[in-house]
Amino acid sequence: MESPLVRPIVQPLHNAELDVAQVRLSVLRLDQLQPEPSGNKWYKLKYNIQQARQGGYQTLLTFGGAYSNHIYATAASGKRFGFKTVGIIRGERIDPLNPTLKFAEDKGMQLHFVSREEYQNKTETHFIDHLRGQFGRFYLIPEGGTNLLAVRGCAEILPDSPEFDVVCCSAGTGGTLAGMLVKLAGQKQVLGFPALKGGEFLRSDIDQLTQAYCGQKFKNYQLIHDYHFGGYARANHLLVDFINKFYQKHQLLLDPIYSGKMMYGLLDLIEQKYFPADTRLLAIHTGGLQGIDGFNQRYEIKKLCIFRN
Ligand SMILES: Cc1ncc(COP(=O)(O)O)c(C=O)c1O
Repeated sequence: MESPLVRPIVQPLHNAELDVAQVRLSVLRLDQLQPEPSGNKWYKLKYNIQQARQGGYQTLLTFGGAYSNHIYATAASGKRFGFKTVGIIRGERIDPLNPTLKFAEDKGMQLHFVSREEYQNKTETHFIDHLRGQFGRFYLIPEGGTNLLAVRGCAEILPDSPEFDVVCCSAGTGGTLAGMLVKLAGQKQVLGFPALKGGEFLRSDIDQLTQAYCGQKFKNYQLIHDYHFGGYARANHLLVDFINKFYQKHQLLLDPIYSGKMMYGLLDLIEQKYFPADTRLLAIHTGGLQGIDGFNQRYEIKKLCIFRN
């Protein structure tokens, strides 16, 4: 099963800061994979979808917040690959639906809203059994889409003969990073930029994933915890101005939850001369651009707005 754009392009960036620091920076444009699901979500979902097909499942069920890229991508996958989809959404239904949930419902996803307390049971057997009683037989994809099949898919993100020294990627659950670590098998350096605050468990989560997948914990990666901007889905003027200026300069749109924070952090490290001269950096654009409309709506009150043109 392939996305029509099988190998995403690598886009070199040019600016004065890179020249001063004497490093080279390119972006792997997973955001350009079309049709949906795109970004890292394509890689996280592809083998899950294959597994669901092989198991004769007709329904995919998953979990997410109201602006979740994963809910969006699962809804798109269901439509594209012929599954019914059920999204268990944290919190109350608010009409009109935000752009993410509207898209999901338009793609045929059945949205089922549960309280925040109930949502915390998302991995508990009794809760899953209860959902089976309600929705029948389904293929379960965990929140964020991270499982070993996602790691297998994310191991395909990096090209076979990578022309870089350091790869940089934002991290939520760490599934995407785990896949890239597996592929690199201890070679090169990997920098992860957590989008969540207090990600003290992230390293052990990533280690557990790679251990379960290939029996190894890798040492060639570091998590940079300084650029979460207050935590998941938090933002401020500094970040939004950065994303808007970056777009004007490079015609490359970043999302405010993941790739925007990673790129902000990466350019900050470059400016601090964190990397030796001649380092070749590859930043992964993991997508998530669907979230911009919802972000702009939510943050209008704080006069934060990401411009698309
Ligand atoms: C756009 C985007 N980038 C990065 C990530 C982080 O991926 P992971 O949860 O695999 O660390 C996510 C979440 O899946 C995402 O939606």
